[in-house]
Amino acid sequence: MRKKIVAGNWKMNKTAEEAQTLLSEVIALINDEVTGQVEVVLCPPALYLPIAVQSTLAYERISIGAQNCHEKASGAYTGEISAPMLRSIGVQYVILGHSERRQYFEETNAQLAEKVNIALENGVKPIFCCGESRDLRENGDYIAFVKNQITESLFHLSAESFANVVIAYEPIWAIGTGLTASSAQAQDMHFEIRQHIASQFGVEVAQDTTILYGGSANEKNAAELFAQPDVDGGLIGGASLKAKEFTIVVQANQ
Ligand code: G3P
Repeated sequence: MRKKIVAGNWKMNKTAEEAQTLLSEVIALINDEVTGQVEVVLCPPALYLPIAVQSTLAYERISIGAQNCHEKASGAYTGEISAPMLRSIGVQYVILGHSERRQYFEETNAQLAEKVNIALENGVKPIFCCGESRDLRENGDYIAFVKNQITESLFHLSAESFANVVIAYEPIWAIGTGLTASSAQAQDMHFEIRQHIASQFGVEVAQDTTILYGGSANEKNAAELFAQPDVDGGLIGGASLKAKEFTIVVQANQ
């Protein structure tokens, strides 16, 4: 079943007190003002995952996601967090393959395939990020590039396993830049992604796949983006750090 989702990627922001305040404000606004069929996924820094899970247990529409996990279940990987750990505290989603991690930590498609596997094995749903650079967009190779990211990291899965994966298309040139993809650009790429998924897993699985847009989506442009037939919601960065703005984005996806 294709779900409408708005996920907030807080990235590396907020002290403990600020995080508690934002969490409380978002929970109250979502609970009071959002009525439609949309799932909200909050992805705070790992330090705050336990309190985020505890604070949202009573709110069925609000889930909690991590921003990453290691590809191994345990071991000598100082500073890392595993999928079993995430599941053990009730985390339901994990963002994998964000362009910032591909850039700063050199995550490869093959490594991400392993991360997807261990997340699924532990009942944590991947929000798998894909997206092209400005150069690829300008030279026209972006569709092939994004399709290859999906092929190399996801096409080894069974259709049954893939059904638990959420895709997030995040053009790198739109992340944090204020240069949002146009609704037509977003729709065109989401359509290509859905067609590519259908080529491997069949039309029914493709139609049921949730594909989110990320990249300078905010309270001003979310309604037009989410009105596109193949845009099923958003993965929101900056605008997720402000409770009222984030709530307006969620309301735009009902
Ligand atoms: O993961 C979402 C993020 O990359 C988008 O960031 O600030 O452009 O909404 P932003």
